[in-house]
Amino acid sequence: MTSPEIAPLHEDLTFHGPLSEERAARLIRSLAPLDHAHVVDVGCGWAEFLLRILEAVPTATGTGVDRDAKGIAHARANAGARGLADRVNLLEADVTGWRPERPADVVIVNGASQVWGGDPLHHTANALTEARKLLAPRGRLLLGEGFWEQEPTEAQLAAMPVPKAQYRSLADLVDLAHAHGYRLVAVEQANQDEWDVFENGHALAWERWLRDNPDSEHAAQIRATADNQRNYRMRGWRGTMGLAYLTLQAP
Ligand SMILES: C[S@@+](CC[C@H](N)C(=O)[O-])C[C@H]1O[C@@H](n2cnc3c(N)ncnc32)[C@H](O)[C@@H]1O
Repeated sequence: MTSPEIAPLHEDLTFHGPLSEERAARLIRSLAPLDHAHVVDVGCGWAEFLLRILEAVPTATGTGVDRDAKGIAHARANAGARGLADRVNLLEADVTGWRPERPADVVIVNGASQVWGGDPLHHTANALTEARKLLAPRGRLLLGEGFWEQEPTEAQLAAMPVPKAQYRSLADLVDLAHAHGYRLVAVEQANQDEWDVFENGHALAWERWLRDNPDSEHAAQIRATADNQRNYRMRGWRGTMGLAYLTLQAP
């Protein structure tokens, strides 16, 4: 535990991912029909996207699952403050041991294909398989997943903790979804501004903390963490790694 504590990401970010308000609203519309839909958000974090679906569709209900206690606590507080608490179940749980109470009309796996564990090289395929098990017939999946926006160079790959084989091109990602029985309804990708807002949000809390606590016994460790993350970003994934939002129709 760092003392004093570092501010949680939700203080600097609206969504825990490279996602603008405009794109979020458009993605929600891509998931129609949502009237009376039950929406399950797996690895929901503080569940801002799920809460926005419920705000947009007064007849929808939702379940969000995440093992991060602080994220779920913040999600519950937001749900209460926005009058959504009676339509959403926010569970602090490990997805690998969690069983849903009912099939979902919509499943969201946004930046969270890793929640089912296993070899990172199989995370995307796992997520496509596991989401099918959660969906009712003719349900929709929103998959927010990494892909190589540009072929990374050897130097870029050496600078980031991501093996090239973990991701694929956008066309191959869409083909993988089709190979799992889905059909692509819509596709978008995060732009550089969305990525920068997201990455800056990570850096901000660390940099403020370092400015305000230069003599803390934890300063060297926090500085090293922030420096590592900046190197990954500036020398590794900025401009090479993309985040695709696939709206997928299950049979
Ligand atoms: C990059 S965040 C994405 C959060 C959210 N989907 C969003 O877009 O705001 C990944 C989330 O997955 C959660 N997570 C990772 N492994 C998990 C597991 N086994 N069970 C539940 N949640 C998990 C983390 O706690 C984290 O909140």
